[in-house]
Amino acid sequence: MQVKDFSKNEGKEVSVKGWVVNKREGKTLVFLVFRDGSGFAQCVINAESIDEAAFAEARKLTMESAVELEGIVVKDEKQVGGYELQVSKLHILSLADEYPITPKEHGDTFLADHRHLWLRSKRQWAIMRIRNEIIYAIHNFFQSEDFVQMDAPIFTGNACEGTSDLFETEYFDKTAYLTQSGQLYGEAMAMAMSKIYTFGPTFRAEKSRTRRHLTEFWMMEPEMAFYDNEQNMDLIERMLNSVLSDVLEKCQTEFEVIDRDTEMLKKSVAKFPRLTYDEAVAILKGEQDVDGKNALKTLKVDLLEVEANIKTVLAEIAEREEKVSQPGIKKGERNFNQNKVDQLKNRLKHLQEDERNIPNWIASAEKFEYGNDFGGSDETVLTRLFDVPVMVYNWPHKVKAFYMKRDDSNPELAKGVDVLAPEGYGEIIGGGERETNKELLIEKIKEHKLPMNEFEWYLDLRRYGSVPHAGFGVGLERLVCWICKLPHVRESIPFPRWYGRLLP
Ligand code: 4AD
Ligand code: MG
Repeated sequence: MQVKDFSKNEGKEVSVKGWVVNKREGKTLVFLVFRDGSGFAQCVINAESIDEAAFAEARKLTMESAVELEGIVVKDEKQVGGYELQVSKLHILSLADEYPITPKEHGDTFLADHRHLWLRSKRQWAIMRIRNEIIYAIHNFFQSEDFVQMDAPIFTGNACEGTSDLFETEYFDKTAYLTQSGQLYGEAMAMAMSKIYTFGPTFRAEKSRTRRHLTEFWMMEPEMAFYDNEQNMDLIERMLNSVLSDVLEKCQTEFEVIDRDTEMLKKSVAKFPRLTYDEAVAILKGEQDVDGKNALKTLKVDLLEVEANIKTVLAEIAEREEKVSQPGIKKGERNFNQNKVDQLKNRLKHLQEDERNIPNWIASAEKFEYGNDFGGSDETVLTRLFDVPVMVYNWPHKVKAFYMKRDDSNPELAKGVDVLAPEGYGEIIGGGERETNKELLIEKIKEHKLPMNEFEWYLDLRRYGSVPHAGFGVGLERLVCWICKLPHVRESIPFPRWYGRLLP
């Protein structure tokens, strides 16, 4: 029996195994918040309905102790999950040492160092379940569209996405690199299967500690023979719509736990605006409006609002701290106010971050030079004007990877597409049509100073039955981050790896 099945077992005697999240006790009652991986429930141990020894055991329980409980499931809408277990038998499976993670606020580094335990907390539980559902929904979509899943190698001899961020490793007497993308192998497989997708770990030695960058992340990369970039964008839209619908349907509870406003997400089950790079640059620089909204003016208004909010929050913090410090204050009231102060300080941190960021965003948007790639802040400025993901296509070929197909009507452009998520999340997908012209590819391989020898097999794909084809790569953690509205990519994967972080 699991907590998730309580609703189907109202009034019945059940047995569950799990962990103690929290304990409160009175003279004759012990209340446990209990979790078993499937859900959370309140369990009540009443001295009158359990033997004395078991009640004494219940009193001994510490946070995260493992227990086996038997009891009757009772409906109680006030409780987590809507049901309560009235315990008649209790057996301690293992009494936990003093648990390092407490309900108070912890710093980011402390939590990252305790990731192996942090995963048990309710918020992380919910995020990991949403991640699981996203993965399942992606497989579901591609399988139902007759794509063949393939596994690309992790040891590779070549660089797919440029040589600047390769992880090098020894491979017997050779040098190998950890793969940056399965795409090139996906292209080979698409010529055998017509439509494929890879779903595997990818690696980038990026020395950046931003909220978007990991050194090890999971990418899902479909590749389709006979697709152009237009069809590629249609597929991206359908895939994201399908994944969002599935996750919204199945993860209601989890979204509630993490306090994610799903109305925002529902808006993205829709058509996505498609902007050329040229249009996107004009919008970014404030030369073109979107539905009457100007990127730079909007930011300036937002900054004023942030500054006003900071004042309000500071005043409330001061007021509550004053209350807390009064000598005669009741314990309950003090805790309540202290909690509020902690929450407000957290909110203040985010507001102050915006206060620092917005002027930088404005400056960087104003300075942006046509022909450059978008940086994180440019993406933020652009996407703040939209409620749904936007697709930016037809990029200057100079800022894109060697394999991108050049636009026949304008050789300065390549038929790439980036999908930028709303709410400040930026790029979640990158893709495009692939170059089929062997001579242009060879030129590009040389220009990017890639070893020709390692790409001979790839050029074979253009020698033998070359056809137009396209594909894209979804960064799973970036997608999880946006869907869950996480402040940092570190919460989107069970054991994150970023610059400097290898433990736990
Ligand atoms: O845009 P990227 O570099 O594209 C490719 O690798 C192509 N080969 C994909 C394809 O066409 N098959 O990476 C794709 C996505 C990005 O949009 C982003 O979501 C994610 O991978 N990504 C990262 N996620 C976390 N940390 C990083 N350091 C990432 N770098 C890219
Ligand atoms: Mg990209």
